[in-house]
Amino acid sequence: MKDPFGRKIDYLRISVTDRCNLRCMYCMSPEGVKQIKYKEILRYEEIVRIVELATSLGVRKIRITGGEPIARKNITYLISSLSAMERIEDISLTTNGVLLERYADELARAGLDRVNISLDSLKHARFTDITRGGTLKVVLRGIERAEKAGLVPIKINMVPIKGFNHDEIGEFSKITLTKPYQVRFIEFMPIGPKEMWRPDKYIPIQEIKKLVEETGKLFPVEMKKSGPAQYFRFEGAPGVIGFINAISNQFCRECNRLRLTADGKLRPCLFSETEIDLKTPLRSGAPDSEIRKLLKLSVDVKPEGHNLSCGSEFTALKPMSRIGG
Ligand code: GTP
Ligand code: 5AD
Ligand code: SF4
Repeated sequence: MKDPFGRKIDYLRISVTDRCNLRCMYCMSPEGVKQIKYKEILRYEEIVRIVELATSLGVRKIRITGGEPIARKNITYLISSLSAMERIEDISLTTNGVLLERYADELARAGLDRVNISLDSLKHARFTDITRGGTLKVVLRGIERAEKAGLVPIKINMVPIKGFNHDEIGEFSKITLTKPYQVRFIEFMPIGPKEMWRPDKYIPIQEIKKLVEETGKLFPVEMKKSGPAQYFRFEGAPGVIGFINAISNQFCRECNRLRLTADGKLRPCLFSETEIDLKTPLRSGAPDSEIRKLLKLSVDVKPEGHNLSCGSEFTALKPMSRIGG
């Protein structure tokens, strides 16, 4: 599928649940977010049907997100149904890592290709603070387990926030000196709980990069299918460092993605509230041709880009846990 701006859309990100076993400060309020009712969440059979139709229109890459996708019961069933589809070339999953130790092997056997792990601190007490109750050791063991299970390349996503965890940028970048991981720094975006965002907490990618360079000189790395991140490496390091300019240098021009929310809405852009309801037609017996038409429509209305800036007013988006990041 091509959108009106000539972009090839071949990547579908699916949020399978808005529920999460953590309460990260920049994502949720302490009491969590208002949850979608169970019956409003797409069933696996419904997701499978949508993906089948999307592949017939050119989707080749799937990401499973949440909330915490591994916390949804029987997620391996969904993964194995998707991996049985011939046209799918890549299935990845974004997770907080808490359940990886227990499920990495099973997920790999079901056909999952790789995982991206959100990790914002390597200090035990701070990790528990940021996640409001998580245990760092469990996540670190989960990452090792995922590596052993072959869910590679392992990508670690870190969101540096000024006065909060930006003093750990160096430590995170040093992981790549000993591990073949992709450590990616993501600009803090004005979404999530309103009380968390302040323009002075935002650190532009250029500044993050300077802090990384205090550890060593960076050399650019060319990556195939690298998505929004730009990659670099310390000399001789097994891992690479990625920078995601979520705000400052928009990658919208190369955006290849559509999103499916946990409650069955197609969302052409993370930052636009435009959504196309798929659940209602699915549940009222719409034929494949109608669902295909809606998939095409979501590509036709995909905006050219977002206009966020670091001085942006806070964006009152639906919670990230529902959209899937
Ligand atoms: P791969 O490179 O294929 O592993 O995927 P990815 O980088 O798209 O996946 P991931 O879920 O790890 O996304 C990383 C982060 O980039 C997200 O959490 C968002 O913060 C940001 N991001 C992803 N997609 C978009 C997008 O469409 N727009 C913007 N502004 N940010 C995005
Ligand atoms: N800014 C940047 N990244 C965010 N994420 C969640 N909220 C924000 C935000 N306000 C990221 C998480 C995770 C991904 C799914 O979304 O760190 O890696
Ligand atoms: Fe859960 Fe991810 Fe949000 Fe943290 S960022 S509360 S792990 S959905």
